[in-house]
Amino acid sequence: MSKILVEITNLKKKFEHLNNSITLFDNFNIKIKQGELVALVGPSGSGKSTLLHILALLDDPSKGKIIINGKVTKDLSDIKKDNLRRETISIIFQDNNLLTDFTAIENIMMPLIIRGENKKFIKEKATEILKNVKMVDRSNHFPNQLSGGEQQRVAIARALIAETNLILADEPTGNLDFKTSKEIFSLFLKLKKLKKTIIFATHNRELANRADYKLFISDGVIKRVNARH
Ligand SMILES: Nc1ncnc2c1ncn2[C@@H]1O[C@H](COP(=O)(O)OP(=O)(O)OP(=O)(O)O)[C@@H](O)[C@H]1O
Ligand SMILES: [Mg+2]
Repeated sequence: MSKILVEITNLKKKFEHLNNSITLFDNFNIKIKQGELVALVGPSGSGKSTLLHILALLDDPSKGKIIINGKVTKDLSDIKKDNLRRETISIIFQDNNLLTDFTAIENIMMPLIIRGENKKFIKEKATEILKNVKMVDRSNHFPNQLSGGEQQRVAIARALIAETNLILADEPTGNLDFKTSKEIFSLFLKLKKLKKTIIFATHNRELANRADYKLFISDGVIKRVNARH
């Protein structure tokens, strides 16, 4: 039996506006195990990015409890949240992915630099991973010198080098062509083999169906749906 990495209990998110409010989800319960590849699907505006932000500890739920790697996330101080994120979570999001003052390879090296690992080792590892995401010839470009898809690939490379147990990806293949999307997805499958847990939001049905299962979010309800392989 695989260990449970993320446990969500009775989770609710409601946004209050001046005259109305929207409930994106309520009473959502799930246990996500190590090594599971989970697709988050649902129409635009249903709450996929919001749920990922909450799991990344970048936004608070309105109600409920989240345990990540055995740690109850509620009421953690900002420093403790940062630590949990650094050690356990990699984030591949639609925007604000990269540090703008650093090159592609420096961005990829960053998680290990922060952990204080050996510089030479980090550089070698980053170079290897750049090959994996087919970005070797862009390694010294700054983010504003990269296309959207290339930036996305650098963010994925950064998640690969960090080797965190949880990877949260918001439309990781959204800016990518068909072939590159498939290549990125095969990197996810590699991570799954390494017992990493990946939760990715996508509008791509084919990729969603290749996950272990889907979480379908719509009209305030999240349902677990089996993927068709
Ligand atoms: N900070 C906020 N304040 C109020 N409403 C918000 C806020 N952030 C998001 N929303 C609303 O919550 C809903 C869900 O947004 P979210 O970005 O999570 O959707 P999504 O499923 O990721 O959509 P897409 O597929 O278009 O990326 C939207 O209707 C959005 O307008
Ligand atoms: Mg979104």
